[in-house]
Amino acid sequence: MITPQMDALLRNISGKRVMIVGDVMLDHYTFGTVSRISPEAPVPVVEVIDEQYLLGGAGNVARNIVALGGRATMIGLIGNDHDGDILSGLLTQSAVDTALVHDDRRRTTRKTRIIAQNQQIVRVDREHTAPLAEPIVGALLEIISDQAQQHDIIIVSDYGKGLVCQTIMNALRALKGKNGVRPRILVDPKPQNYDLYHGVDILTPNTKEAGEGAGIPCLWPDGPARVGRALFDRLRCRDLLITLGAQGMALFEGRNAASHIPTFARKVFDVTGAGDTVIATLALAMAAGATLLDAAVLANHAAGIVVAQVGAATPTPEGLRAALTNSAQPEITALPGL
Ligand SMILES: Nc1ncnc2c1ncn2[C@@H]1O[C@H](COP(=O)(O)OP(=O)(O)OP(=O)(O)O)[C@@H](O)[C@H]1O
Ligand SMILES: [Mg+2]
Repeated sequence: MITPQMDALLRNISGKRVMIVGDVMLDHYTFGTVSRISPEAPVPVVEVIDEQYLLGGAGNVARNIVALGGRATMIGLIGNDHDGDILSGLLTQSAVDTALVHDDRRRTTRKTRIIAQNQQIVRVDREHTAPLAEPIVGALLEIISDQAQQHDIIIVSDYGKGLVCQTIMNALRALKGKNGVRPRILVDPKPQNYDLYHGVDILTPNTKEAGEGAGIPCLWPDGPARVGRALFDRLRCRDLLITLGAQGMALFEGRNAASHIPTFARKVFDVTGAGDTVIATLALAMAAGATLLDAAVLANHAAGIVVAQVGAATPTPEGLRAALTNSAQPEITALPGL
């Protein structure tokens, strides 16, 4: 059943803007067949039949926002290389507004998966993760401050490639947006960078990332409450959403009030990209003025749609409306152990 409130929210997300600051990547898939072992080394020889390029990392978050009917402004870094051209072409094709900085000294991040007979054989990464040069940080800061007036919501999508650093995070925290109000900052964290996220509005770690940040395992049922409190003590963030895979989500509205939002049982085909869908939907719902709880419930449904499809699927407003209409209200309870 869909409540009037959720129905209105689904209409309101259309056209809302979200700024994404983070690590854009090119996902490259090479499909082939194997029929022999190489005479050169004991490895299979893959005969390539097809290849495909897709948006990865923060680019996939942007793609999710557009698929939901929102507008995404992608601020990121690419190299002066062919992969950079492919990546910015894919963003444009996906109707993402881009403000990309070109860095001569880095290469565009690319992850190549070589797949044969439906099985991944190897992944080949090309990336530079060294700290950014000062002029590159300066160029990013200029773009961010130019865009601040147009955005109430910022997603930081950190895949640890170097863009998300102290200077950029300080600048985001100091921004003055519309009416002098700071845009809200949502972070999909990389555990090694937790200390950068002090004082943000909300983080969306999965159980592994949350546990690593807290230094305690995030095991259901009592782990999330303890982990959540430890993250608040470490980061002084405003709110926190821990995604719990098949267990759903733990939403903390402040340190001492947390709810558990369960998932509905469904056949799961591919969990890749579910975290990107969660933060994209959450941000867009917040841009549309939703309460945090409604935004999280919507994000939980959106992720549920995506994990039931093969590949890095994206949710649509129609798909979300159908999912809400066809499911019961989720049984939201207090988080165990809090
Ligand atoms: N088995 C499942 N059944 C139903 N929903 C699921 C399942 N696994 C994940 N989800 C949905 O996806 C959300 C995010 O999942 P998860 O915690 O695995 O994120 P993640 O590890 O960040 O994903 P990613 O692989 O994209 O990084 C969950 O909160 C839930 O809504
Ligand atoms: Mg994730």
